Amino acid sequence: MAQKSGNSAPIGAFDSGVGGLSVLRAIRARLPGEDFLYVADQAHVPYGPRGLAEVRRLSEGIVRFLMEQGAELIVIPCNTASAAALHSLRAQYPGFPFVGMEPAVKPAAEHTETGVVGVLATPTTFEGELYASVVERFGGGVTLLQDACPGLVGEIEAGRASGPEARRILRQALVPMLAQGLDTVVLGCTHYPFAFETIRDIVGENVRLIDPAPAIARRVEQLLNEGGLRNPQTDGGTTRYLTTGDPEVMKARLKELLMMEAEVEQIYWSNHKLTTDKHG
Ligand code: DGL
Repeated sequence: MAQKSGNSAPIGAFDSGVGGLSVLRAIRARLPGEDFLYVADQAHVPYGPRGLAEVRRLSEGIVRFLMEQGAELIVIPCNTASAAALHSLRAQYPGFPFVGMEPAVKPAAEHTETGVVGVLATPTTFEGELYASVVERFGGGVTLLQDACPGLVGEIEAGRASGPEARRILRQALVPMLAQGLDTVVLGCTHYPFAFETIRDIVGENVRLIDPAPAIARRVEQLLNEGGLRNPQTDGGTTRYLTTGDPEVMKARLKELLMMEAEVEQIYWSNHKLTTDKHG
């Protein structure tokens, strides 16, 4: 690869699996010159039922690894990991630029006309302080209906985002919400945009679906600009994909979800640390 001048350090990103790719594609579309390093912790997917303490420990291990690999900014395209770890990561690494996520209750509350908003997120996201704080700040006067869509992340990881089980889970969540006057749905888990068509099919054309990916991409761009971290090239950025699970499975998902042929590298957990070396 040709040597580049200026700040060409990569942007780190991670999720329990392929969900974060729904955000990564928006960031890459906005910042085509940046290089990325994407870690999918598929050895531990789904994060949703694991609880705040375990997801925090996993997230901290991944962040350490991304920093060792030279990441200049870390985006957490995972609501669950953000709920569990964003606060403690900012405290541990003061001044380091992190971009996290929280369910987009704010734009939903601004746009709803019926005042009934559905939030689809994981149990750990609903448990966290970030969610409590967005509800407190922006949820006043709005009826928030929540559902954790148990099993949906697993279906998406298995390549069945539009299969019958994903449809059943989503119908179970959304049909009762529609009966209560739902007009806005917050996609509060980054896996769920990959089930967009199934969701659209269930709720119809008149319900607004809020995917926060474009807002996250704008925030990443803003922080890079503020920190003087932009890659001098304006095009041709690359992405390295790494997984703690099976690289072949991830490769297949990249092909189906992003229409992309890419190599996937295997990384390993060893004593709560991530390493590229099988024997730790
Ligand atoms: N994609 C993640 C999120 O945004 C995690 C889903 C999971 O692993 O349960 O919450």
